Amino acid sequence: MIRAAAAELVREPFPVRPFVGPARVLAGEGAGAQLGEELLATGARPADGAALLIGDVAVEQRDLAREAIGSLDEAGFELIPAPGIAAEPTPEVIQDIIGAVDRPVAAVIGLGGGSAMDAAKLVSLCLGNGPAVLDGIAPGASLQAGPPLVLGPSTAGTGAEATAVAMLWRGTRKQIFVHPTFVPRLAVLDSRLLAELPQAVTASAGLDALSHALESLLSTFRTPLTTGAAVAAVEGLARWLPEAYDSGSSDSRMGTLIAAYQAGLALNASVALGHSIAYTIAARTALPHGVTCAMSLPYCLAYCRAAGDRLEPVRAALALEGDPRELVDWVHRLNERMGIPPSLGEVGITADELPAMHHECVEVYPRPNNPVPVEADGIERLLAHFHAGDLDAAWADRFAEEPVR
Ligand SMILES: [Fe+2]
Repeated sequence: MIRAAAAELVREPFPVRPFVGPARVLAGEGAGAQLGEELLATGARPADGAALLIGDVAVEQRDLAREAIGSLDEAGFELIPAPGIAAEPTPEVIQDIIGAVDRPVAAVIGLGGGSAMDAAKLVSLCLGNGPAVLDGIAPGASLQAGPPLVLGPSTAGTGAEATAVAMLWRGTRKQIFVHPTFVPRLAVLDSRLLAELPQAVTASAGLDALSHALESLLSTFRTPLTTGAAVAAVEGLARWLPEAYDSGSSDSRMGTLIAAYQAGLALNASVALGHSIAYTIAARTALPHGVTCAMSLPYCLAYCRAAGDRLEPVRAALALEGDPRELVDWVHRLNERMGIPPSLGEVGITADELPAMHHECVEVYPRPNNPVPVEADGIERLLAHFHAGDLDAAWADRFAEEPVR
């Protein structure tokens, strides 16, 4: 039934858009131990240069890259260890890493959460084109490919290992880079890289992945390919995320890692309003990206209620085929179980900050692909409901009678 619901989408008009993903994926517990030979299999050669390793500080502290580093050594690659990544990359962080590169680079290897993988993408881009490229990529600009990318996530969430997107923090705003060269040549999904992941990180990363999957289903850019990936991701997260949160078992780590990767593939359809709201929360709090996305998701679903039929394949997968509100409540309960704050007020955002937030949503992070137009009036009302934590009011507030796209 699930398959039928997703498969029926080929009958509807859908946009002809590219669907990108890594050229090669190595998935399984212990996959990192094969990194060196897999890198050789992609065509990279030690004679071309060293392997530039960009890891996040958590990976360094827990010595999780040990097997991967050993295998690179066995394959004959010299290593350039970059300074550890502790937060979402800024232009200064990228410059620091480039400053540590003193020889040719055969591959840029990002092992860590979304921040480390985004840093690896941006470093590769800079190595191919010079650091001025961080000022922005003009549409249609022709860029040189940097050294090939190898990405291995140490959280199950961002899906950055599957996407053509990288984020850079510039001041208080996210600068979003999209380029085909950001799609890695090799992705390594190894549950051992998630060993000892703190419970709060499991929650925020997993709920970020859930946001990617559900928002991509709402997007006007969705295709049967992104829908299939998104439904598989939601099924995987529903099955494994609670267990990963409770016990961190190896199976549950692998299950969430695969689901987050599938949600990353679904990002070929892009995200929707939920991520715009999340960015405005992140600019005012120190909350992790996934927490801000998880908080925003039920309100995004309420705003896009008129497009709820696009979520039918997921409702079928979760056996929530009655009232469409049941899916929103399911998300809300999952948030509650994992300690996600239920309202803007709860995280210290005051009512007088709401006008600036709604302006940013509409002007700074517009979503032309949102199925219900992101308009000032509606967003103002939505943020007021979100501030109060009144999901009932958000659900009852009709923002559109039907999706416009
Ligand atoms: Fe996200």
